[in-house]
Amino acid sequence: MENSSITVSAPGKIHLLGEHAVVYGKPALLAAIDLRVTVKLNPTTYIDPIVHMYVRNTIEAVVKKYLKITNIPPYGSEISSQLPIGCGLGSSAAVSAAYIAALLTFLNIKWDKPLVNDLTYEAEKVFHGNPSGGDNSTVVYGGLVWFRKQSHNRKLIQPLNSPIPAQLAKNFILINTGKPKETTKQMVEIVSSKFNPSTSLRARLQSAKFRKLFDDQEQLVKGLVTVLKEGDENKLIQIIRAGEKNLESMGVVSSYVASIIRKIEKAGGAAKICGGGGKTKATGILLCYHPNKAIIEKIAEGNSLPFFSVDLGVEGLRKE
Ligand code: MEV
Repeated sequence: MENSSITVSAPGKIHLLGEHAVVYGKPALLAAIDLRVTVKLNPTTYIDPIVHMYVRNTIEAVVKKYLKITNIPPYGSEISSQLPIGCGLGSSAAVSAAYIAALLTFLNIKWDKPLVNDLTYEAEKVFHGNPSGGDNSTVVYGGLVWFRKQSHNRKLIQPLNSPIPAQLAKNFILINTGKPKETTKQMVEIVSSKFNPSTSLRARLQSAKFRKLFDDQEQLVKGLVTVLKEGDENKLIQIIRAGEKNLESMGVVSSYVASIIRKIEKAGGAAKICGGGGKTKATGILLCYHPNKAIIEKIAEGNSLPFFSVDLGVEGLRKE
């Protein structure tokens, strides 16, 4: 592409804890990770790989609708991603945020992070149905984010000012269990169908169980903030284990992945799914912690699963 091209990038995200419960107004703690999506728009070359036409059409429709634009002049676009797609690392939010910021630049519309975040949330609704807004807020603002959806249009997005202490940060590692068969949208719908109380006694009991699980996740997320400040490794392991147990009780972790997590716990570590999860087999990325990361690597190898480390709390959306 030529010099006149516009390039914007956004990081992926990871849920340290609080996914699913966050859809129902509970807090989540998220971190932007150093795997980025880059979008390049070229005002003079109109080549567009067919593969991302759905993304392009969705984003353009959102921008037209909310900014009351009738005509978008021709341009070419390229999307490149370091993120595995559909594995719980916020790929759709990162693509949308970077594409929206690039498109607004192309249209000479002055933008800031709150505007891009609002539009990305609208795009996320198209992709995911009923998102909390946590993913888009993290990829746009970056860093470590305490997120809470207070109501449909009021969200608390609070950056955590101190980074994760180095002695803890170095021991996190991700395992990729593969792309789940179920989409995030489907997994959110599964939880919602169990949580929404209907008239039958059985449904009301199940709903009460979920309310308790969400309340418990809230306490764990609060505990996690303290633990990350104080650097207490044992408490960190206990919190991740308890958070994962609650996710399993919500029905978003397949038995295949639960069995890998049990091996990690038995070896002295902790692991949890990140994002929507999955019911059939793969659940996407696992966030794992162990005082000796090599032990997690061995377990991943033993299950023929790829693993990698990331920096947690990196910069959000930026023009390149
Ligand atoms: C998806 O990354 C996280 C969920 O909590 C859904 C959401 O927050 O929109 C499952």
